[in-house]
Amino acid sequence: MEEKISIEDMATFCKKKGFVFQNSEIYGGMAGFFDYGPLGVELKNNIKSQFWNVFVQQREDVVGIDGTTITHPKVWEASGHVDSFLDYIYKCPKCRIMVKGDDDKGMTCPKCEAKLKSSGKLNLMFTTNVVPVEGNISYLRPETAQVIFTNYKLVQETSRKKLPFGIAQTGKAFRNEISPRDFLFRSREFEQFEIEYFINPKDVNNCPFIKEVESMKLNLITEKEQKANKPHSEITIDQMVTKRIASPWHAYWLAKYYKFFLDLGIKKENLRLREHHKDELAHYASACFDIEYNFPFGWKEIHGNADRQQFDLTQHMKFSNTSMEYFDEEAKEKVIPYVASEPSQGIDRAFLTFIFEAYNDDKKRGNVVLKLHPKLAPIKVGIFPLVNKLEKEAKKLFTDLSEEFNSMFDKSGSVGRRYARADEIGIPFCITFDFDSLKDKKVTIRDRDTTKQVRTPIKDLKETLRELLNK
Ligand code: GAP
Repeated sequence: MEEKISIEDMATFCKKKGFVFQNSEIYGGMAGFFDYGPLGVELKNNIKSQFWNVFVQQREDVVGIDGTTITHPKVWEASGHVDSFLDYIYKCPKCRIMVKGDDDKGMTCPKCEAKLKSSGKLNLMFTTNVVPVEGNISYLRPETAQVIFTNYKLVQETSRKKLPFGIAQTGKAFRNEISPRDFLFRSREFEQFEIEYFINPKDVNNCPFIKEVESMKLNLITEKEQKANKPHSEITIDQMVTKRIASPWHAYWLAKYYKFFLDLGIKKENLRLREHHKDELAHYASACFDIEYNFPFGWKEIHGNADRQQFDLTQHMKFSNTSMEYFDEEAKEKVIPYVASEPSQGIDRAFLTFIFEAYNDDKKRGNVVLKLHPKLAPIKVGIFPLVNKLEKEAKKLFTDLSEEFNSMFDKSGSVGRRYARADEIGIPFCITFDFDSLKDKKVTIRDRDTTKQVRTPIKDLKETLRELLNK
């Protein structure tokens, strides 16, 4: 297996190529905050639109919303975040550095090695002051989920959805992480794509879609295997359900997201599910699984998926005095919907996953080849005139193609050098306009992954590219 580059080298690569920059770098930077550059924003947008397309637009049973990042402070009292979204912190008496930890036995300062002192708990929510009342504290949302719960009733009524159905949202979340680290992996401002999937509580064991994914094989590390220090093993979704490792709804949604990553090029040996230990479950969850990716810094969570039961709607009913009940027409009774699955996807972690998987240091070519899935590639087509004399014709091609495909025009250096530059930023197809093109009205399309070149009539170019990019 090819050796993966370190997270530090990946951060350097992302900066050099214009994918991601340290925020406020000119002022010395700010830990845990990152800005996406010209290529990064394209890749990130493509990842987001794939999630939205697959899990919202292609489904009859999921609708989306786009809520605010600051909400009424009561939302976070009801959700339990004010009381429970806490980390234990330890302070260095000398340099005042704060470190996250569960116990202080022997913990030393990462900077000066002085013994750390317990400093109680810190709530990870950022506070902000909402005028006009002084001291009117509110919070920046630490998860997008709550805005879904507070809008649940309005969405259900206006979209006329019947249970089971889901509400999706993608957007920023903020956590005042005590120790942000590993580049984009643990940051203080990040993006999530979350779905709350509501069912009738009587249908907890009845998922009508389970057949679709039943035979799918996944890697799973159970709580028992983790405690026994055993590796993960392969299991089918059917086995997960029949052995009661996961509920049918939970297993179904985990399978759908697992498949999403496989379909976009993640190798199956680099993905696994991890069952949460009972004692690490969040205050609202009765069960939780993560999807993990095999990063160079270990297997790490890229997706969390909890069974949130009726916790949140019940809490909001209590705190807001607003009914969150749903009228079940068949049974002629009111029920509080049950969140059987909450697929919670970090966009920045998905970004890291795809870029690590794609990164290939091709020694034979002498350059990096970023083998991103064409659907994710920030730039789809590179257009090169063989020599500067042909610039006018190649530019015309660029103008035409860029109406439909995000394209790049490059005329500097040899064609070989231009291919290498395109490989490094993951452009799947490059088109060269040469002297023959003037006569035969054909151009050469070169494939990033195989380096194979084919001659294609200019008149068929759009159709050919459409096919190649959607393969
Ligand atoms: N609503 C449930 C929830 O927020 P979580 O496990 O705390 O659950 C879900 O977060 C996902 O959000 C994680 O799997 C990860 O992808 C992303 N995430 C969480 N904290 C993050 C951070 N500090 N930096 C980047 N991504 C983060």
